Amino acid sequence: MKELKIFAIGDIVGKAGRNILASRLQGIAERERIDLVIANGENSAGGMSMTSEVTRDLFSLGIQVITSGNHVWNNSDILQIIDSEKYLLRPANYPDGVQGKGYCMFNVKGSKICVINLMGRVMMNPLDCPFRKFDSIYEKVKDESDAIIVDFHAEATSEKQAFGWYVAGRASAVFGTHTHVQTADNRILPGGTGYITDIGMTGAFDSVIGMKKERSLKFFLTQTKAKFEPAEGDPGINGVIIKIDANGKCTEMRRVME
Ligand SMILES: [Fe+2]
Ligand SMILES: [Fe+2]
Repeated sequence: MKELKIFAIGDIVGKAGRNILASRLQGIAERERIDLVIANGENSAGGMSMTSEVTRDLFSLGIQVITSGNHVWNNSDILQIIDSEKYLLRPANYPDGVQGKGYCMFNVKGSKICVINLMGRVMMNPLDCPFRKFDSIYEKVKDESDAIIVDFHAEATSEKQAFGWYVAGRASAVFGTHTHVQTADNRILPGGTGYITDIGMTGAFDSVIGMKKERSLKFFLTQTKAKFEPAEGDPGINGVIIKIDANGKCTEMRRVME
């Protein structure tokens, strides 16, 4: 395979996230000579869900593969396209029979890149084991894919790190999503697997993880039901740039914060 550069974008939160991508993504992709753009879209519509219209808009901005997470089911509108959109993923370790798919094969520069979406289980829905699910997907795709990239959507740092070690040498890169806060532990694990616990979020940073801080504070101060709403101020893009060499090994895992 040819050397490839992948841009993975952290959870897109509401309109602020979509707008800043509309104005900045193309420039970043050109400047960095990006071959493949992957983004987590679970919060792209209204902050806690996805819709078919918003998802199509994200594809039209130049995002080629859209991953998701626990919030993918919050608006049933997404079910209209979750099977038909080839490059729209939901975590692969939902029980058998659930709509959608958890991995896809993307062809770029003559190479086949397998993108896998998995979800952790600590402080999250009790899904099937993401470690064993990776094993079974890996067995199916390893011979035909030049590189495997995993979006591990999880809450606990420990589970994410453990997963990184588990797939070291098999996946080309693992990036974490879901916490919306970028971690500074990007590194390359033995076997050439790029790793970072969380790539952060793309949305308004004058917020609590992308949502209006007043609403969040009200919830924490009163412990009553809160109606969260995406924030608007101080928009930014968080992600990571992943360089993959001719052997499918990661040679660079660089954090992006714009
Ligand atoms: Fe999220
Ligand atoms: Fe999430």
